Amino acid sequence: MKILIMGATSAIAKATARLYAETGAELFLIARNEVRLEELVADLDVRGAKISGHLTLDISKTAGHKKALETVLSSLEKIDLALICHGDLPDQAACENSFKVAQKAINVNGLSTISLLTIFADIFKTQGFGSIAVITSVAGDRGRQPNFVYGASKALVSTYLQGLRGALLPHGVHVIDIKPGLVDSPMTAAFEKGPLWSSPELVAKSIVKGVSKKRLVIYTPGYWRLIMMVVVSIPELIFQRLKF
Ligand SMILES: NC(=O)c1ccc[n+]([C@@H]2O[C@H](COP(=O)([O-])OP(=O)(O)OC[C@H]3O[C@@H](n4cnc5c(N)ncnc54)[C@H](OP(=O)(O)O)[C@@H]3O)[C@@H](O)[C@H]2O)c1
Repeated sequence: MKILIMGATSAIAKATARLYAETGAELFLIARNEVRLEELVADLDVRGAKISGHLTLDISKTAGHKKALETVLSSLEKIDLALICHGDLPDQAACENSFKVAQKAINVNGLSTISLLTIFADIFKTQGFGSIAVITSVAGDRGRQPNFVYGASKALVSTYLQGLRGALLPHGVHVIDIKPGLVDSPMTAAFEKGPLWSSPELVAKSIVKGVSKKRLVIYTPGYWRLIMMVVVSIPELIFQRLKF
């Protein structure tokens, strides 16, 4: 299986790459931090992965996307799975105080992914098979006071994926939206952890399973589907007063 991972040094991406490595998959890895990327390549190599290539890219700079994906294609030739994992949890108060900060967050979590998806759509349509998997978040299901700029960026991607899924269906291409709940990773290092938290390894398992079963939208762990059903059903009159 030929797999491209964007944001490959994310904790969830790493755990997913390790699972695919054990199956002997051929991987191409793209991440921003060169040192962490080299470490990951060495780690996966030991686990039996064939690393076709890796490159460093600041994914928020969309001008570099086309060239990067040309490099990927010249190496992999075809892509069975493209997995988009990069993301950044911004400071909500800072976003509310400055549009520039909000714009940066929306760009990295939302627009940069749309740019990648635009190019992927072309690649996957041409090859006529494969899966495009994107990590969004349960935060995109409803705009909550503590993180609505991040949530809005993820909702942008989820809505885009709903349409893209239908557009690519006649071309034999599968599109999966992965919605994790609370995951203990560097992104959430400062948060106090509780019973609803899960590990990148657990999320990685559901990603591999969701892709192989051609699921369309997964909540991971699964109980987040129920939690979000409840959150989404709270009447707006009440929801506007909730601080969580
Ligand atoms: N952790 C959670 O509770 C949670 C919940 C729901 C959804 N998610 C989503 O899950 C995905 C993976 O996050 P994670 O939990 O694994 O956190 P993580 O380990 O902090 O990973 C985030 C990754 O995004 C990369 N990144 C950020 N901006 C980038 C840019 N401009 N260009 C390239 N890479 C960039 C970071 O690269 P550097 O190493 O260079 O910083 C890092 O590898 C994200 O999309 C996140 O929004 C996480």
